Amino acid sequence: MENQERAQKLFSAVQPSGAITIGNYIGAIRNFVKLQGEYDCIYAVADLHAITVRQDPAALRRNTLELMALFIACGIDPEKSVLFVQSHVPAHCELTWVLNTITYPGELSRMTQFKDKSARHADNVNMGLMDYPVLMVSDILLYQAALVPVGEDQKQHLELTRDLAIRFNNRYGATFTVPEPYILKDSGARVMSLADPSRKMSKSDENPNAFVTMSDDKDTIIRKFKRAVTDSDSVVRYAPEEKPGISNLLTIYHAFTGKSLAESERDFAGKGYGDFKLAVGEVVADALAPIRAEQARLLADKEYLRSVMKAGSESAARMARRTLSKVYRKVGFYSGE
Ligand code: TYM
Repeated sequence: MENQERAQKLFSAVQPSGAITIGNYIGAIRNFVKLQGEYDCIYAVADLHAITVRQDPAALRRNTLELMALFIACGIDPEKSVLFVQSHVPAHCELTWVLNTITYPGELSRMTQFKDKSARHADNVNMGLMDYPVLMVSDILLYQAALVPVGEDQKQHLELTRDLAIRFNNRYGATFTVPEPYILKDSGARVMSLADPSRKMSKSDENPNAFVTMSDDKDTIIRKFKRAVTDSDSVVRYAPEEKPGISNLLTIYHAFTGKSLAESERDFAGKGYGDFKLAVGEVVADALAPIRAEQARLLADKEYLRSVMKAGSESAARMARRTLSKVYRKVGFYSGE
């Protein structure tokens, strides 16, 4: 029994749609690394999701490789975890088609992210953007994942995943594991913009000072933190409602140092915002420097990255095929074998 529990599957993915932010790192990637020892982890570069908003093809290709390298540089070990590119495993699209037939348009049109992205990309509200959550559901269910580490903004998509898994199981008999989301309890699940702490930090923000990317250098990082919007008070205290800017910076400091929020507050007792912002910037820059160096080293070895992708997509495809065959059988497709 214990063995069975240890072998539980975990799935998550990140889109290669531009620079990866410290929000992605704190809310998701950092936890991917932590959970490696406890679960059988499967991590994807979600390129199929990325094209739901317009991408420059050359940039998408480059971002895919960079994200693959970043995953490894952050500590995801391809010997322990399955690491692959979503479009290399056709079963993701195949299962999406089947799940589309048990999904209602109203369930998708009311998704917060769909509404936000439709407003932001009003000239390109395409079917893929609306179907985005069903593709995510397929990603997760194909691997029978029990746990899905994500940031707070993905919670609604995880609820849909559970709903569709249960709906399919009820209609066709037990097929899918119903997954649980793994979302940080503290504010690390939703790292806020440095320019406007009422908004989520997002790689698609038009203001580059709003986010820190994993590839920003030390000067840039420190400059961005120095400019971070705070409040007119002068006490470094964690109070997300009252002091969203300072609380966000404390969260970032806590995430990169491993110190508790209370300890982090104590580090800055009696100090001004200037010192505090500089300290946060330094902690982040020092933590990111070795990751950036390792990513650059990996990117110089494309053969290695290609071999990781190939081995990863082969393992993923094998697992996915097993679930897809079961689904095809359950819905009544005549076996071609
Ligand atoms: P993406 O690429 O937008 O984001 C990747 C992960 O980063 C988290 N995140 C944040 N966490 C904390 N604070 C923030 N400001 C912040 N911004 C982003 C996201 O919640 C996410 O966990 N649809 C997914 C990718 C995906 C996926 C999946 C995830 C595709 N298939 C299957 C889980 C399971 C996404 O939007 O990623």
